[in-house]
Amino acid sequence: MAKLKWGMIGGGEGSQIGPAHRLGAGLDGAFEFTAGALDHRPDAGREYGQRLGLAEDRAYGDWQEMLAGEKGREDRIDLVTVATPNSTHFEITKSFLEAGFHVLCEKPMTMTVEEGEEIVKLAKSTGKICAVNYGYSGYSLVRHMRAMVARGDLGKIRMVKAEFAHGHHADAADADNPRVRWRYDPAQAGVSAQFADCGIHALHMASFVIGQEAERLSADTVSCIQSRELEDDAMVNLRFDGGAAGRLWTSSIALGNQHGLTMQVFGENGGLRWAQEQPNQLFWTPLGGRVQIIERGEGNLSPEADRTSRVTVGHAEGMPLAFANIYADLAEAINADKQGRPIDPAANLYPRAEDGLRSMAAVSAVAESGKADGAWMDARPPMFR
Ligand code: NAI
Repeated sequence: MAKLKWGMIGGGEGSQIGPAHRLGAGLDGAFEFTAGALDHRPDAGREYGQRLGLAEDRAYGDWQEMLAGEKGREDRIDLVTVATPNSTHFEITKSFLEAGFHVLCEKPMTMTVEEGEEIVKLAKSTGKICAVNYGYSGYSLVRHMRAMVARGDLGKIRMVKAEFAHGHHADAADADNPRVRWRYDPAQAGVSAQFADCGIHALHMASFVIGQEAERLSADTVSCIQSRELEDDAMVNLRFDGGAAGRLWTSSIALGNQHGLTMQVFGENGGLRWAQEQPNQLFWTPLGGRVQIIERGEGNLSPEADRTSRVTVGHAEGMPLAFANIYADLAEAINADKQGRPIDPAANLYPRAEDGLRSMAAVSAVAESGKADGAWMDARPPMFR
Protein backbone atom coordinates (compact mmCIF):
# COMPACT_ATOMS: atom_id res chain seq x y z
CA MET A 1 0.00 0.00 0.00
CA ALA A 2 1.22 3.50 -0.78
CA LYS A 3 2.46 5.41 2.21
CA LEU A 4 0.20 8.12 3.56
CA LYS A 5 1.65 11.61 3.57
CA TRP A 6 1.92 13.19 6.98
CA GLY A 7 2.57 16.76 8.07
CA MET A 8 3.22 18.40 11.39
CA ILE A 9 2.76 21.86 12.85
CA GLY A 10 4.81 22.60 15.97
CA GLY A 11 7.05 19.94 17.47
CA GLY A 12 10.19 21.85 16.53
CA GLU A 13 13.70 21.22 17.73
CA GLY A 14 13.83 20.85 21.52
CA SER A 15 10.06 20.60 21.90
CA GLN A 16 8.71 18.10 24.37
CA ILE A 17 6.28 16.20 22.21
CA GLY A 18 7.56 16.56 18.62
CA PRO A 19 9.97 13.58 18.72
CA ALA A 20 7.26 11.28 20.15
CA HIS A 21 4.96 12.15 17.23
CA ARG A 22 7.67 11.56 14.65
CA LEU A 23 8.57 8.22 16.21
CA GLY A 24 4.95 7.19 16.54
CA ALA A 25 3.94 8.17 13.03
CA GLY A 26 7.02 6.56 11.52
CA LEU A 27 7.03 3.26 13.37
CA ASP A 28 4.88 1.18 11.04
CA GLY A 29 5.96 2.86 7.84
CA ALA A 30 2.33 3.75 7.12
CA PHE A 31 3.03 7.48 7.17
CA GLU A 32 5.79 9.38 5.45
CA PHE A 33 6.87 12.68 7.00
CA THR A 34 6.24 14.99 4.04
CA ALA A 35 5.53 18.53 5.21
CA GLY A 36 5.93 20.67 8.30
CA ALA A 37 5.81 24.12 9.88
CA LEU A 38 7.68 23.08 12.96
CA ASP A 39 8.65 26.19 14.85
CA HIS A 40 7.25 29.56 15.84
CA ARG A 41 10.43 31.01 14.29
CA PRO A 42 10.00 30.53 10.50
CA ASP A 43 13.69 30.15 9.64
CA ALA A 44 14.34 27.71 12.47
CA GLY A 45 11.30 25.67 11.38
CA ARG A 46 12.39 25.54 7.73
CA GLU A 47 15.94 24.64 8.62
CA TYR A 48 14.95 21.91 11.10
CA GLY A 49 12.36 20.48 8.71
CA GLN A 50 14.97 20.06 6.00
CA ARG A 51 17.37 18.49 8.48
CA LEU A 52 14.65 15.96 9.23
CA GLY A 53 14.42 15.14 5.53
CA LEU A 54 11.58 17.36 4.28
CA ALA A 55 11.86 18.69 0.73
CA GLU A 56 12.80 22.38 0.62
CA ASP A 57 9.41 23.43 -0.75
CA ARG A 58 7.55 21.52 1.97
CA ALA A 59 9.55 22.73 4.96
CA TYR A 60 7.30 25.73 5.61
CA GLY A 61 7.89 28.84 7.70
CA ASP A 62 4.45 28.96 9.29
CA TRP A 63 1.16 27.07 9.23
CA GLN A 64 -0.62 29.56 6.94
CA GLU A 65 2.10 29.07 4.34
CA MET A 66 1.80 25.30 4.80
CA LEU A 67 -1.97 25.38 4.39
CA ALA A 68 -1.70 27.40 1.18
CA GLY A 69 1.12 25.22 -0.15
CA GLU A 70 -0.52 21.87 0.63
CA LYS A 71 -4.02 22.86 -0.42
CA GLY A 72 -2.90 23.41 -3.99
CA ARG A 73 -1.00 20.15 -4.44
CA GLU A 74 -2.28 16.95 -5.99
CA ASP A 75 -0.05 14.98 -3.62
CA ARG A 76 -1.21 16.93 -0.59
CA ILE A 77 -0.71 15.52 2.90
CA ASP A 78 -3.27 12.98 4.15
CA LEU A 79 -2.99 13.93 7.83
CA VAL A 80 -1.69 16.91 9.76
CA THR A 81 -0.69 16.81 13.42
CA VAL A 82 -1.12 19.98 15.42
CA ALA A 83 1.47 19.96 18.22
CA THR A 84 1.74 23.67 18.95
CA PRO A 85 0.94 25.40 22.28
CA ASN A 86 -2.69 25.11 23.39
CA SER A 87 -4.01 28.55 22.45
CA THR A 88 -3.25 27.94 18.74
CA HIS A 89 -4.96 24.54 18.41
CA PHE A 90 -8.41 25.86 17.54
CA GLU A 91 -7.44 28.19 14.74
CA ILE A 92 -5.05 25.75 13.08
CA THR A 93 -7.33 22.71 13.42
CA LYS A 94 -10.32 24.66 12.13
CA SER A 95 -8.41 25.99 9.11
CA PHE A 96 -7.09 22.57 8.08
CA LEU A 97 -10.48 20.86 8.53
CA GLU A 98 -12.12 23.55 6.44
CA ALA A 99 -9.56 22.96 3.72
CA GLY A 100 -10.42 19.25 3.72
CA PHE A 101 -7.50 17.76 5.67
CA HIS A 102 -7.69 15.05 8.34
CA VAL A 103 -6.26 16.34 11.65
CA LEU A 104 -4.69 14.88 14.78
CA CYS A 105 -4.75 17.69 17.35
CA GLU A 106 -2.86 17.73 20.63
CA LYS A 107 -4.82 18.11 23.81
CA PRO A 108 -6.47 20.24 25.03
CA MET A 109 -8.20 20.47 21.65
CA THR A 110 -9.39 24.03 22.24
CA MET A 111 -9.42 26.69 24.94
CA THR A 112 -13.21 26.88 25.36
CA VAL A 113 -16.30 24.68 25.10
CA GLU A 114 -17.68 26.88 22.30
CA GLU A 115 -14.57 26.38 20.21
CA GLY A 116 -14.76 22.65 20.89
CA GLU A 117 -18.35 22.50 19.67
CA GLU A 118 -17.37 24.31 16.52
CA ILE A 119 -14.64 21.77 15.80
CA VAL A 120 -16.99 18.81 16.39
CA LYS A 121 -19.57 20.31 14.02
CA LEU A 122 -16.92 21.10 11.43
CA ALA A 123 -15.50 17.57 11.49
CA LYS A 124 -19.03 16.26 10.96
CA SER A 125 -19.91 18.66 8.16
CA THR A 126 -16.63 18.19 6.29
CA GLY A 127 -16.56 14.43 6.88
CA LYS A 128 -12.91 14.72 7.92
CA ILE A 129 -11.24 12.96 10.83
CA CYS A 130 -10.44 15.18 13.79
CA ALA A 131 -8.60 13.02 16.32
CA VAL A 132 -7.24 14.24 19.66
CA ASN A 133 -4.03 12.85 21.05
CA TYR A 134 -5.05 11.12 24.25
CA GLY A 135 -2.08 8.99 23.41
CA TYR A 136 -2.08 6.88 26.57
CA SER A 137 -5.26 5.20 25.36
CA GLY A 138 -3.02 3.49 22.81
CA TYR A 139 -1.40 1.24 25.43
CA SER A 140 -2.25 -2.39 24.82
CA LEU A 141 -3.31 -3.08 28.41
CA VAL A 142 -5.47 0.04 28.55
CA ARG A 143 -7.33 -1.36 25.54
CA HIS A 144 -7.52 -4.68 27.39
CA MET A 145 -9.03 -3.03 30.47
CA ARG A 146 -11.70 -1.53 28.23
CA ALA A 147 -12.35 -4.93 26.62
CA MET A 148 -12.60 -6.65 30.03
CA VAL A 149 -15.12 -4.08 31.22
CA ALA A 150 -17.10 -4.28 27.96
CA ARG A 151 -17.36 -8.06 28.01
CA GLY A 152 -18.58 -7.96 31.60
CA ASP A 153 -15.61 -9.48 33.49
CA LEU A 154 -15.99 -6.91 36.26
CA GLY A 155 -19.79 -6.89 36.31
CA LYS A 156 -21.41 -3.52 36.86
CA ILE A 157 -18.80 -0.82 37.39
CA ARG A 158 -19.08 0.83 40.79
CA MET A 159 -16.09 3.12 40.92
CA VAL A 160 -13.21 4.36 38.79
CA LYS A 161 -10.23 6.07 40.41
CA ALA A 162 -7.90 7.97 38.11
CA GLU A 163 -4.79 9.95 38.97
CA PHE A 164 -2.43 12.12 36.99
CA ALA A 165 -0.32 13.69 39.67
CA HIS A 166 3.31 14.69 39.09
CA GLY A 167 5.70 16.91 41.01
CA HIS A 168 7.40 18.92 38.29
CA HIS A 169 6.00 22.33 39.26
CA ALA A 170 6.46 21.96 42.99
CA ASP A 171 9.36 24.37 43.38
CA ALA A 172 7.97 27.67 44.69
CA ALA A 173 11.30 29.35 43.92
CA ASP A 174 10.82 28.43 40.22
CA ALA A 175 7.20 29.56 39.98
CA ASP A 176 8.16 32.82 38.23
CA ASN A 177 10.19 31.11 35.55
CA PRO A 178 8.40 32.16 32.30
CA ARG A 179 8.34 28.54 31.04
CA VAL A 180 6.28 27.58 34.10
CA ARG A 181 4.40 30.78 34.87
CA TRP A 182 2.30 30.97 31.67
CA ARG A 183 0.66 27.65 32.51
CA TYR A 184 -0.96 29.20 35.60
CA ASP A 185 -1.84 32.50 33.97
CA PRO A 186 -5.51 32.68 32.85
CA ALA A 187 -4.63 35.04 29.99
CA GLN A 188 -2.51 32.34 28.39
CA ALA A 189 -3.79 29.06 29.83
CA GLY A 190 -7.52 29.71 29.99
CA VAL A 191 -9.74 28.73 32.90
CA SER A 192 -7.70 25.81 34.21
CA ALA A 193 -4.05 24.85 34.51
CA GLN A 194 -3.41 21.39 35.94
CA PHE A 195 -6.79 19.86 35.16
CA ALA A 196 -6.68 21.09 31.55
CA ASP A 197 -3.11 19.88 31.16
CA CYS A 198 -3.15 16.47 32.86
CA GLY A 199 -6.53 15.90 34.49
CA ILE A 200 -8.21 15.55 31.10
CA HIS A 201 -5.89 12.65 30.22
CA ALA A 202 -7.04 10.83 33.38
CA LEU A 203 -10.68 11.66 32.71
CA HIS A 204 -10.48 10.53 29.10
CA MET A 205 -8.89 7.26 30.16
CA ALA A 206 -11.49 6.65 32.88
CA SER A 207 -14.31 7.14 30.34
CA PHE A 208 -12.50 5.12 27.69
CA VAL A 209 -11.97 2.17 30.02
CA ILE A 210 -15.41 2.00 31.62
CA GLY A 211 -17.33 2.98 28.47
CA GLN A 212 -19.23 5.71 30.29
CA GLU A 213 -19.14 9.49 29.99
CA ALA A 214 -18.95 11.98 32.85
CA GLU A 215 -22.38 13.42 33.61
CA ARG A 216 -21.80 15.48 36.78
CA LEU A 217 -18.77 16.52 38.76
CA SER A 218 -17.69 18.36 41.87
CA ALA A 219 -14.19 19.79 42.11
CA ASP A 220 -11.93 21.04 44.87
CA THR A 221 -9.23 23.11 43.16
CA VAL A 222 -6.23 24.54 44.98
CA SER A 223 -3.28 26.74 44.13
CA CYS A 224 -0.76 25.20 46.51
CA ILE A 225 1.77 27.78 45.35
CA GLN A 226 -0.19 30.86 46.28
CA SER A 227 1.14 33.21 43.61
CA ARG A 228 -0.61 31.03 41.00
CA GLU A 229 -3.97 32.25 39.81
CA LEU A 230 -4.94 28.87 38.40
CA GLU A 231 -4.94 25.54 40.21
CA ASP A 232 -1.92 23.31 40.57
CA ASP A 233 -3.93 20.57 42.28
CA ALA A 234 -7.51 19.33 41.95
CA MET A 235 -9.62 16.57 43.43
CA VAL A 236 -12.68 15.86 41.33
CA ASN A 237 -15.63 13.66 42.24
CA LEU A 238 -17.62 12.34 39.31
CA ARG A 239 -20.83 10.58 38.36
CA PHE A 240 -20.89 8.78 35.02
CA ASP A 241 -23.87 8.20 32.75
CA GLY A 242 -23.76 4.43 33.23
CA GLY A 243 -24.04 4.72 37.01
CA ALA A 244 -20.37 4.56 38.01
CA ALA A 245 -18.85 7.02 40.46
CA GLY A 246 -15.39 8.45 39.95
CA ARG A 247 -12.53 10.00 41.94
CA LEU A 248 -9.90 11.91 40.02
CA TRP A 249 -6.79 13.50 41.53
CA THR A 250 -4.48 15.63 39.45
CA SER A 251 -1.52 17.62 40.70
CA SER A 252 1.71 19.27 39.63
CA ILE A 253 3.11 19.64 43.13
CA ALA A 254 3.18 15.93 44.08
CA LEU A 255 6.91 15.81 44.79
CA GLY A 256 8.34 12.37 44.21
CA ASN A 257 5.76 11.44 41.59
CA GLN A 258 7.32 11.36 38.15
CA HIS A 259 4.55 10.87 35.60
CA GLY A 260 1.83 9.70 37.91
CA LEU A 261 -0.93 8.48 35.56
CA THR A 262 -2.70 5.53 37.18
CA MET A 263 -6.09 3.88 36.77
CA GLN A 264 -8.16 1.68 39.04
CA VAL A 265 -11.56 0.26 38.16
CA PHE A 266 -13.79 -1.49 40.68
CA GLY A 267 -16.78 -3.55 39.57
CA GLU A 268 -19.19 -5.93 41.32
CA ASN A 269 -17.07 -8.93 40.31
CA GLY A 270 -13.52 -7.68 40.34
CA GLY A 271 -11.00 -4.84 40.25
CA LEU A 272 -8.28 -3.65 37.86
CA ARG A 273 -5.15 -1.59 38.52
CA TRP A 274 -2.71 -0.13 35.94
CA ALA A 275 0.02 2.51 35.94
CA GLN A 276 1.57 4.29 32.95
CA GLU A 277 5.04 3.90 34.41
CA GLN A 278 4.66 0.07 34.41
CA PRO A 279 2.51 -0.33 31.30
CA ASN A 280 3.29 -4.01 30.76
CA GLN A 281 1.42 -5.28 33.83
CA LEU A 282 -2.26 -5.13 34.60
CA PHE A 283 -3.36 -6.24 38.06
CA TRP A 284 -6.66 -8.09 38.10
CA THR A 285 -8.42 -9.25 41.26
CA PRO A 286 -11.61 -11.28 40.75
CA LEU A 287 -14.09 -11.22 43.62
CA GLY A 288 -13.03 -13.82 46.19
CA GLY A 289 -9.83 -14.55 44.28
CA ARG A 290 -6.18 -13.61 44.42
CA VAL A 291 -4.43 -10.77 42.64
CA GLN A 292 -3.37 -11.88 39.16
CA ILE A 293 -0.89 -10.17 36.87
CA ILE A 294 -1.91 -9.93 33.22
CA GLU A 295 1.21 -9.39 31.08
CA ARG A 296 1.04 -7.45 27.86
CA GLY A 297 1.61 -9.75 24.93
CA GLU A 298 0.92 -13.00 26.76
CA GLY A 299 -1.68 -14.03 24.17
CA ASN A 300 -5.31 -14.98 24.61
CA LEU A 301 -6.05 -11.44 25.63
CA SER A 302 -8.70 -9.40 23.83
CA PRO A 303 -8.40 -8.67 20.08
CA GLU A 304 -7.95 -5.00 21.02
CA ALA A 305 -4.94 -5.87 23.21
CA ASP A 306 -3.44 -8.33 20.74
CA ARG A 307 -3.64 -5.79 17.91
CA THR A 308 -1.74 -3.17 19.92
CA SER A 309 0.95 -5.39 21.42
CA ARG A 310 4.04 -4.63 19.31
CA VAL A 311 6.76 -6.66 21.00
CA THR A 312 6.65 -10.17 22.40
CA VAL A 313 5.72 -10.82 26.01
CA GLY A 314 8.39 -9.85 28.53
CA HIS A 315 9.94 -7.10 26.44
CA ALA A 316 9.35 -3.57 27.63
CA GLU A 317 7.05 -1.41 25.50
CA GLY A 318 10.03 0.88 24.91
CA MET A 319 12.11 -1.88 23.35
CA PRO A 320 11.66 -0.66 19.75
CA LEU A 321 13.02 2.71 20.89
CA ALA A 322 16.16 0.94 22.12
CA PHE A 323 16.47 -0.64 18.65
CA ALA A 324 15.94 2.81 17.11
CA ASN A 325 18.93 4.05 19.12
CA ILE A 326 21.13 1.33 17.61
CA TYR A 327 20.04 2.41 14.12
CA ALA A 328 20.69 6.04 15.04
CA ASP A 329 24.23 5.12 16.18
CA LEU A 330 24.81 3.27 12.92
CA ALA A 331 23.52 6.19 10.84
CA GLU A 332 25.95 8.50 12.63
CA ALA A 333 28.82 6.05 12.12
CA ILE A 334 28.09 5.66 8.38
CA ASN A 335 27.64 9.41 7.86
CA ALA A 336 30.86 10.16 9.77
CA ASP A 337 32.68 7.66 7.57
CA LYS A 338 31.24 9.16 4.38
CA GLN A 339 32.12 12.69 5.48
CA GLY A 340 35.61 11.77 6.73
CA ARG A 341 35.00 13.13 10.23
CA PRO A 342 35.21 11.54 13.68
CA ILE A 343 32.04 9.89 14.99
CA ASP A 344 30.15 11.55 17.86
CA PRO A 345 31.54 9.70 20.91
CA ALA A 346 28.01 9.49 22.41
CA ALA A 347 26.90 7.50 19.35
CA ASN A 348 29.97 5.30 19.23
CA LEU A 349 28.34 2.76 21.51
CA TYR A 350 26.71 0.30 19.13
CA PRO A 351 27.63 -3.34 19.81
CA ARG A 352 30.54 -4.53 17.64
CA ALA A 353 31.64 -7.85 16.13
CA GLU A 354 34.02 -8.13 19.09
CA ASP A 355 30.98 -8.21 21.37
CA GLY A 356 29.48 -10.94 19.21
CA LEU A 357 32.71 -12.91 19.50
CA ARG A 358 32.90 -12.47 23.28
CA SER A 359 29.36 -13.83 23.54
CA MET A 360 30.32 -16.91 21.56
CA ALA A 361 33.35 -17.49 23.76
CA ALA A 362 31.11 -17.22 26.81
CA VAL A 363 28.61 -19.65 25.28
CA SER A 364 31.39 -22.13 24.66
CA ALA A 365 32.80 -21.68 28.18
CA VAL A 366 29.38 -22.14 29.77
CA ALA A 367 28.82 -25.36 27.82
CA GLU A 368 32.24 -26.70 28.79
CA SER A 369 31.88 -25.67 32.42
CA GLY A 370 28.45 -27.28 32.59
CA LYS A 371 29.92 -30.55 31.40
CA ALA A 372 32.79 -30.23 33.87
CA ASP A 373 30.75 -29.88 37.07
CA GLY A 374 30.96 -26.09 37.07
CA ALA A 375 34.72 -25.89 36.71
CA TRP A 376 36.06 -22.37 36.14
CA MET A 377 36.80 -21.69 32.46
CA ASP A 378 38.46 -18.86 30.57
CA ALA A 379 35.56 -16.77 29.21
CA ARG A 380 37.71 -14.80 26.74
CA PRO A 381 37.99 -15.56 23.05
CA PRO A 382 41.45 -16.95 22.27
CA MET A 383 42.33 -13.86 20.19
CA PHE A 384 41.77 -11.58 23.20
CA ARG A 385 43.71 -13.57 25.73
P1 NAI B 1 6.89 22.91 23.60
O1 NAI B 1 6.80 24.30 24.10
O2 NAI B 1 7.96 22.01 24.12
O3 NAI B 1 7.04 22.94 22.00
C1 NAI B 1 6.15 23.65 21.18
C2 NAI B 1 6.70 23.68 19.76
O4 NAI B 1 5.76 24.31 18.89
C3 NAI B 1 8.00 24.46 19.62
O5 NAI B 1 8.87 23.79 18.73
C4 NAI B 1 7.53 25.82 19.02
O6 NAI B 1 8.55 26.46 18.29
C5 NAI B 1 6.42 25.33 18.15
N1 NAI B 1 5.42 26.38 17.86
C6 NAI B 1 4.86 27.27 18.71
N2 NAI B 1 3.97 28.05 18.07
C7 NAI B 1 3.95 27.63 16.80
C8 NAI B 1 3.26 28.03 15.64
N3 NAI B 1 2.36 29.02 15.69
N4 NAI B 1 3.51 27.40 14.46
C9 NAI B 1 4.39 26.40 14.39
N5 NAI B 1 5.10 25.96 15.47
C10 NAI B 1 4.89 26.57 16.64
O7 NAI B 1 5.44 22.28 23.81
P2 NAI B 1 5.07 20.75 24.04
O8 NAI B 1 5.27 20.40 25.47
O9 NAI B 1 5.73 19.91 22.98
O10 NAI B 1 3.49 20.80 23.85
C11 NAI B 1 2.87 21.00 22.61
C12 NAI B 1 1.43 20.52 22.73
O11 NAI B 1 1.42 19.12 23.00
C13 NAI B 1 0.65 21.17 23.87
O12 NAI B 1 -0.65 21.43 23.43
C14 NAI B 1 0.63 20.13 24.98
O13 NAI B 1 -0.53 20.21 25.80
C15 NAI B 1 0.64 18.86 24.17
N6 NAI B 1 1.25 17.73 24.88
C16 NAI B 1 0.58 16.53 24.82
C17 NAI B 1 1.06 15.42 25.44
C18 NAI B 1 0.31 14.12 25.34
O14 NAI B 1 0.60 13.18 26.08
N7 NAI B 1 -0.65 14.00 24.46
C19 NAI B 1 2.31 15.46 26.23
C20 NAI B 1 2.97 16.75 26.18
C21 NAI B 1 2.45 17.84 25.53
